[in-house]
Order: sequence, then structure tokens, then C-alpha cells
Amino acid sequence: MRRGLAGLLLGVAGALGCLASYAFVDHAIGPTGDGSNPHPVHLRLPKTQPLSAVALLGKALFFDPMLSGSGRQSCASCHSPAYGYNPPNALTVQPGGMHLRQVGYRPPPSLAYLYRQRPFSIGPDSSADVVPNLNALAAAARNEPRARKLAGTTPAAPAMVPQGGLFWDGRADSLQRQAYLPLLNPVEMANRSTAAVAAKLAHSRYRGSFVRLFGTGIVNDPQQLVDEAMFAIGRFEIEDPSFHPFSSKYDAWLQGQARLTPAEARGLRLFNDPAKGNCAACHLDRPTRDGLPPLFTDTQYEALGVPRNPALAANRDPRFHDLGLCGPFRKDLAAQTQYCGMFLTPTLRNVDRRAVFFHNGVYDSLTQVLDFYNLRSVAPEKIYPRDARGHLLVYDDLPAAYRANVDTTDAPFNRHVGDPAPLTAQDIRDIIAFLHTLDDGWRAHANDRPNG
Ligand code: HEC
Ligand code: HEC
Repeated sequence: MRRGLAGLLLGVAGALGCLASYAFVDHAIGPTGDGSNPHPVHLRLPKTQPLSAVALLGKALFFDPMLSGSGRQSCASCHSPAYGYNPPNALTVQPGGMHLRQVGYRPPPSLAYLYRQRPFSIGPDSSADVVPNLNALAAAARNEPRARKLAGTTPAAPAMVPQGGLFWDGRADSLQRQAYLPLLNPVEMANRSTAAVAAKLAHSRYRGSFVRLFGTGIVNDPQQLVDEAMFAIGRFEIEDPSFHPFSSKYDAWLQGQARLTPAEARGLRLFNDPAKGNCAACHLDRPTRDGLPPLFTDTQYEALGVPRNPALAANRDPRFHDLGLCGPFRKDLAAQTQYCGMFLTPTLRNVDRRAVFFHNGVYDSLTQVLDFYNLRSVAPEKIYPRDARGHLLVYDDLPAAYRANVDTTDAPFNRHVGDPAPLTAQDIRDIIAFLHTLDDGWRAHANDRPNG
């Protein structure tokens, strides 16, 4: 790869610009009685500027079905801007392939808010310059005690845990490298080879743009041509404000420009309360110390033990298991069985614009997701199915050998069968009300504004 993530990240730093009047105090986050933010912050938002010529080319490619083997599917078919770059439909998995009749076994994550995602790493060092020996790091990390995650506390750095990367299993490091995968995946855009994609591009209406931007030789160098096309798509994802608008009510609230309703305010407190939701322990909701807005993920991997999804075609085979970090897509960490069942913590921004949740799409409402968090440890019989003889199949989407990897230390998963559930039905409604404040495109109404 000629230009990797390092180049893209430099672009990000440039796009962010510098900030003169920034002041952020490290204090707990919580609304006052009237729903306003007692400690408004100045967020360092990405600068809005016209797209570069390369990003404009990437934008055209992103929406062009010509890039698929079927000629009927673009990146936007599975990652739609109208849905926060989530899928534009309620299907568990998206159809793809030459005839749009094949499916994979993971729902597409949102493509928004990936602009600060670091390369995949294990442990504190996520430098893009050294190629780390992941297996050696993983073996070393095996004996490290795992820090418990508590909302409202600064994560115990440097934690020896898998973090960063793209896809549910972190197997791609840069947006450029990533774009190759759907292009050539037989159940997604289903192109036969890089050469086939290059041939299409060389004879497309983009030929002139490629020559102008990358020189005349480009059309005769298939690998380089596709590399630049993928680089262009990556630039579009980084430069275009629609991928990181930060226009939610919560962003306005953080900056002192909105008031939360009583339900939203209660939801935020429960989201942050280590004895209740503890959601913020993994879905970070505070600006960073240097004022970057929160992305609602710590970009770490966890095995939550979500139930098996019988609706997935792949699951008709009882021996099939999607183990995330340790396979089957990802091959390099297959020997690190302590990571089997772990998936990337997704952002919760625009989460209510998704139709299905978790890496296997097992749930189709946020209420079901919250019931899972609330009941998994205290009333597993309400979450998992039983076999023919009536045995409860706890953690039924993981082979028995890997069930010890499931998180039982972080609240709300640290309770025992029969303990009281941490959340009431009202608490769950309030947390969901709060999650709605993470939708982009919020417009201030006079009565939402403090003193308004
Ligand atoms: C048929 C549906 C489909 C199409 C078309 C598609 N994708 Fe995806 N995309 C997915 C799925 C499914 C995943 C998650 C796969 C996984 O985790 O293994 C994904 C993941 C991604 C991710 C990682 C997101 C994250 O949060 O880690 C990026 C970036 C991405 N796609 C970009 C693209 C680009 C660029 C294109 C066009 C070249 C594209 N996709 C076309 C289905 C699709
Ligand atoms: C210990 C870390 C951790 C805690 C605590 C946690 N989450 Fe998550 N969350 C994750 C991980 C990891 C996933 C993805 C798991 C998977 O798909 O297997 C996830 C997925 C989700 C999803 C699905 C998003 C999508 O795109 O499919 C939602 C919604 C969610 N969490 C909300 C919450 C809420 C609300 C709370 C508090 C009640 C919470 N989480 C607490 C780690 C955590």
C-alpha cells in the first residue's frame, strides 16, 4: 500500500485544525435540574472545508453501482448517508454477490465517526509505523489481569487489550485498505479480481479524473489504479462532514446549547451510573482531555455473549461459529483463543437509525438490547433458549471451550443469577430516550435552549 493510515491520519489532523480558546475541565458529566449542562465545553470539531479533488472522485465512486460485479450495488447500498451510514433497510444481513442473492453473517456497521479510529493493536502502543507481532503481544497480555471498566473513571492506562481497527473484528487498518474487502468479497460487491475492477475504472467516465489527479501512467497500472480509487474513497470518508457532523442534541448539550428533557436527563445519569447501566464504561460519552467530542466507543473488544441468531443462514450449521477476533474471517489471531467471541465496541451515535443490533443482528429493537444488558447475568432464562431436554443454553453462540471469555466483571454483567436486575422498565425507557439524543440532524427549538 503506497499510502496507509498514517497519510489519512495526517489529513485528519489537518482537517481538525487547531483550536485557540479551548477549555475543558475533567469533571463528571451530568445534567442539572432544568436539563442544562452545568459545565459547557468547547468541542474541537472537524473543520468544514470544500472537499479535495481526490475526495470528490471518491464521493462519486462511493455512490456508483458500477464498482460492483452485479452493476447494481454501491457502497451506499449497505452504508446509506440517510441512515447515518447504516443500512437503509431492516434486513438482518444485506444481500450481495453477482445476482444480489447471497448474504454474509454480519450486519454492516455504521461508517460514520471512524475518522479517529486507530490501527488495530494489542496494548498501549498503537503506532502505525511498526508492524507489531500481534501473537507475541497477545501471549504476553494473556497473563495481565484485566482492568475492570467503570463509567466515570479514567480507563486504567495502559491496558493490554485488543483495540482499534475496522470491521467487527478489526481486520482492516485503514479506510483505503478496508475498501478492497467489500469490492472482492463474493457475497458483497463480488468482483472477480483487482484487475477486473481496474479494467472497469480505466474505461469509465472517471478515466479523465484519474489521469488528471495521478498522471497518464495510472490507467495502465491496474494495481495502482485500484489503490488510488480506494484511497479516494477513504479521503471522501475522512473529509466529508456528513461522516462526522456532530449535529446531535447531545453535542449541542455538551456545548451548553440545549436542555435535556427529564427522561433524557435521567437516561444520561443511568448511562453513566456504574451501579445501573455503566454504559459509559465502554461507550465513552465525555469529550477527551483535549476537547475532541466523544465517539461513544472506547474502540476495545469484548465478548458479551450475545445469543445466537437463528435467522442467519450460516447458523443452520450447528458447527458454524462467528468468533470475531479469532476467526473465521480474521486468521492471524486464531491461536489466541482467549480472544474468541470478542467484537469491536461500536459507536452509539445514530444507533436508533439501525434496524438490527450486535455483530450477528440478533435483536431488532433497542428495548431488546437493553433487556439483554439488564438480564443476561441475573435472569439468563429470559435471554437464552433451551435445548430439547429443557437445559438452558447460556452463551449459546460460543463453543463451550470459549465461554470463559465472556465478560462477567464489568457492570452490569458482574451480577449473579437471582440478583435484582439493575434497571427497571422505566430506566430502560429513559436510557433509550437518551440514546435518541445521539441522532445527528437535531435542530434547536426555542424551548430546548437554556434561557430560551
Ligand atoms: C453488501 C453490503 C455491503 C457493501 C456493498 C459494502 N459494504 Fe462495507 N460493510 C459491510 C459489512 C457486512 C461490514 C461488516 C463486515 C465485518 O465486520 O466483517 C462492512 C464494513 C465496512 C467498514 C468497516 C466499518 C467499521 O465500523 O469498522 C467500512 C469502512 C466499509 N464497510 C466501507 C465500505 C465501502 C467503502 C464500500 C464500497 C467500496 C462498502 N463498504 C460496500 C457490507 C457492505
Ligand atoms: C463492557 C463493555 C460494554 C458495556 C458496559 C456496554 N456495552 Fe454496549 N456494546 C459493547 C460491545 C463490545 C458491543 C458489540 C458486541 C457484539 O456485537 O457482540 C456493544 C453493542 C451495543 C449496541 C449495539 C450497537 C450496534 O451497532 O449494533 C448497543 C445499542 C449498545 N451496546 C448499548 C449499550 C448500552 C445502552 C449500555 C448500558 C446499559 C451498554 N451498551 C454497555 C460493549 C459494552
